[in-house]
Amino acid sequence: MREVLTSELVPGMVLADDILNFTGQLVFSKDFVLTDKAITRLAYYSIPSVVIQDDNAEIKYEEIKPIEIAPPPVFEESVHSQMVKASPNFQKFKKEFEENLESFKGSINDIVTLNKPIDPDALFAQTVNMTTFSDSSISTMDMIQNMREYDDLTFAHSMNVALICNVFAGWLHWDAEETKLVTLCGLLHDIGKLKIPDSIIKSPNKLTDTQYKIVKTHTVKGYEILKEHTYLDPHIAYSALMHHERYDGTGYPLGIAGEKIDKYARAVGIADVYDAMTSARVYRGPWCPYRVVELYENEGFQKYDPEFIITFLENVVNTYLHNDVLLSNGEKGNIVFNNKHHLSKPIVQTDFKVYDLSQENGLYIEKIL
Ligand SMILES: [Fe+2]
Ligand SMILES: [Fe+2]
Repeated sequence: MREVLTSELVPGMVLADDILNFTGQLVFSKDFVLTDKAITRLAYYSIPSVVIQDDNAEIKYEEIKPIEIAPPPVFEESVHSQMVKASPNFQKFKKEFEENLESFKGSINDIVTLNKPIDPDALFAQTVNMTTFSDSSISTMDMIQNMREYDDLTFAHSMNVALICNVFAGWLHWDAEETKLVTLCGLLHDIGKLKIPDSIIKSPNKLTDTQYKIVKTHTVKGYEILKEHTYLDPHIAYSALMHHERYDGTGYPLGIAGEKIDKYARAVGIADVYDAMTSARVYRGPWCPYRVVELYENEGFQKYDPEFIITFLENVVNTYLHNDVLLSNGEKGNIVFNNKHHLSKPIVQTDFKVYDLSQENGLYIEKIL
């Protein structure tokens, strides 16, 4: 048995222990053989490492043959991703993101350590500036998706969540004031993490129960910091407190359900999980949005505000309508129709056939081309 970081897991490894999520529910049981999808799920639950079974097969010295050295595998970047990265607008977005990241770190540290006032207008202006580089061919969501070298658990993540919230508010047809507010809620939702020791936040090892409990307090800590800034809209502090609450009452820290959870926190919660799922992809190369949608489907929509989650996922998949895709059977096709009742399973047309993926057991979209 040996402990392996979730980021280093590969399909085929076998779990040596039951895996529980932070609420104590069983995610996978002992002896489960990991798949690509299962690894994504572990990352989604922020499980940093797992213990896997060693292959006990015995080998004799005479059987050892020289191993040919091959070049390391290269993750193929999709044409779509190459197109995004090569565009001048993406270059501008990237530059702006990098500059904002530095100033954002500075202002957040000042707020937390020196108790300096927060300038919501300046913070909002910076975020909105980054959305101006999107156009009809490359959306802000596409831009975020191709900025993954800046994965960190607090600052870049908060900026991503703010951008996603900003786009999400548009999908929900919220007015300018609500849009500004939810963007700020996204930007400051994890501010409490700065009060958690780095040794825990950045720990490469599986967190102990006590450490998990400490991580969870970032919600209350964030609320306590923000509520002192009484000139801020209270929804900002409520979002920090409630973004890990779930619509069915299974979240934390309060365990409240439904409309009791602040409206903005319900939106931030969805953007937060989306960013976590899409950024946990280091080991598996390009991201496929349909798989992310499937993860939400497997997770159960009851965990999220029904109107919010449907709007969010419908818009995510609609971005990819008419894109060329590679199916898991190796065929290439085009997404001709999204299925409202099964968002991860659209209708795909190939040269030979029209596949309704909701009717094809085991056939799925491997990647966007
Ligand atoms: Fe959080
Ligand atoms: Fe977060």
